[in-house]
Amino acid sequence: MYHNPVLLQKSVEGLNIISNGNYVDVTFGGGGHSKAILDILIDGKLIAFDQDADALKNTIDDERFVLINHNFQFLKNFLRLHKLEKVDGILADLGVSSHQFDVPERGFSTRFDAPLDMRMNNNQPVKASDIVNTYSEEELKRLFRNYGEIKNSGCFSRAITESREMKPIVTTNELIDCVKKCFPQHKKNKFLAQVFQALRIEVNDEMQTLKLLLEQANELLAPGGRLVVISYHSLEDRLVKNFIKSGNFKGVVEKDFFGNPIVSFKQITRKPIMPDDIEIKNNSRARSAKLRIAEKI
Ligand SMILES: C[S@@+](CC[C@H](N)C(=O)[O-])C[C@H]1O[C@@H](n2cnc3c(N)ncnc32)[C@H](O)[C@@H]1O
Repeated sequence: MYHNPVLLQKSVEGLNIISNGNYVDVTFGGGGHSKAILDILIDGKLIAFDQDADALKNTIDDERFVLINHNFQFLKNFLRLHKLEKVDGILADLGVSSHQFDVPERGFSTRFDAPLDMRMNNNQPVKASDIVNTYSEEELKRLFRNYGEIKNSGCFSRAITESREMKPIVTTNELIDCVKKCFPQHKKNKFLAQVFQALRIEVNDEMQTLKLLLEQANELLAPGGRLVVISYHSLEDRLVKNFIKSGNFKGVVEKDFFGNPIVSFKQITRKPIMPDDIEIKNNSRARSAKLRIAEKI
């Protein structure tokens, strides 16, 4: 299976679909969420994005549907191209698909010895190996601390810069080998997941593209339109939570001259919705998912 959709019912319900509305699924993947949206739409339109060319093979043959093989940071431009000024709902199911994790040569997984790649879009020039072999020790330290939330990030950055002096680090196993002295063996999986997450976020510029997406969603949603976001780590979830609450990424609500809060969204979910035990048991990838829903005012 290409990808088993997470929180499918709750996220699609969160869009509050009107049968002739216009919707966007910015992370098409295997198309699980898109298909569920099309099942409810009658004569509306669904525009989907995926920057990974592999996702194109899952396209849906339906005249109400368009799949765009580009980064969702260009959302506004492409909607304009399709003559859409405003939309009634935007769904983002962030991160990588199971397919991307499961194909060894994509280099996303710690499970396989493979080229250190991690690009969602194979046409993009920078791979994880470029970052590991060219960033300064300080830049790597910042990366592992900020995006991997690793406390002893200095150990990892030092291990990498020392190792690459002997020979460039080009495979997942070479990377794992050189950083293994920075964590106890029984915590191997946790630390490696953090290292790989940090590199993946940097390679795909995930935090910046998420910010661009949220700002454009604010502009493009019609009043009453829904923003539905599923995130998989705390850095993403914090950005989404802050933006929904305050319209900025710090989460500080600004006030107008009269002291009234200036907000763009009504929070439909004050606390994020998480998958139940049954979903987590059937789909382990769902375990870190957090769903937030907001309505454009
Ligand atoms: C978690 S999967 C989505 C799965 C999908 N909801 C489903 O039901 O199959 C995330 C997908 O979004 C794509 N993606 C992630 N960030 C993207 C971006 N900035 N622009 C376009 N596609 C992106 C990935 O390539 C991946 O296929």
